[in-house]
Amino acid sequence: MTHAIVMGGSRGIGRAIADALREIGADVVAASSTDVDTSDRQSVEAFAARYPETDVLVLNTGGPEPKTFAQTTPEDWDRCHDLLFTGFCSMLRRVRVRDGGYVFLISSMVVREPTPNLVLSAAYRAAFSEVFKVVSKEYAGREITCVNIAPGPFDTDRTRQLVKDVKELAGSLPMGRLGRPEEIGAFVAGIVKDRTKYISGIIDFDGASSARSI
Ligand SMILES: NC(=O)c1ccc[n+]([C@@H]2O[C@H](COP(=O)([O-])OP(=O)(O)OC[C@H]3O[C@@H](n4cnc5c(N)ncnc54)[C@H](OP(=O)(O)O)[C@@H]3O)[C@@H](O)[C@H]2O)c1
Repeated sequence: MTHAIVMGGSRGIGRAIADALREIGADVVAASSTDVDTSDRQSVEAFAARYPETDVLVLNTGGPEPKTFAQTTPEDWDRCHDLLFTGFCSMLRRVRVRDGGYVFLISSMVVREPTPNLVLSAAYRAAFSEVFKVVSKEYAGREITCVNIAPGPFDTDRTRQLVKDVKELAGSLPMGRLGRPEEIGAFVAGIVKDRTKYISGIIDFDGASSARSI
């Protein structure tokens, strides 16, 4: 049976991934922030020691508080460094992904198009995306596939925290709606179920919101 660890698996996108993986028969550990807090180094070490090996690892966590660059403090940068960078590095170093396995990162469209009030998110997600790329090349030799999923606006608690008028936001998007977490869940489960191996890099999961052409 395929074993999967989904961090941030109690709500939103992570939960949808965990549900979809269960539907294809995987044995899933769906972790909440109580099970593992990626901003707390000891919590991550303890969690990784509890689950030292897996077939599918989903690196996901809560997003940082929105702040403009001028509003940020040194403490914000320290916390986000651990939340979005060190915690995931520790998971990759400590948890052995079995040969032929998968690692999915839930990053954000801000990796490619930073927005002013998400500077903390953009900075550390971009930094970790570089680590993820390096690791994906190393893992490829063991047929481990690494996919960086960069969501646009999705219908989750996170979006409701960030945006006052979600309806207005939805209407402004190219598809006239937010993304549904189940769409990412189905994508991840489909890749695992179909044993798709040659896919890599960043997937813009944004309903055509991004302005980038290449
Ligand atoms: N939704 C979007 O539109 C969107 C767009 C781009 C990027 N993203 C990013 O994608 C990720 C998932 O988004 P989402 O919308 O699914 O978020 P969400 O609905 O807020 O869910 C966050 C999940 O992460 C967990 N979590 C929160 N803080 C954590 C911490 N310190 N350590 C470990 N786990 C933690 C939560 O656990 P609890 O239940 O215990 O709180 C929950 O399971 C976030 O990083 C978000 O910033 C989201």
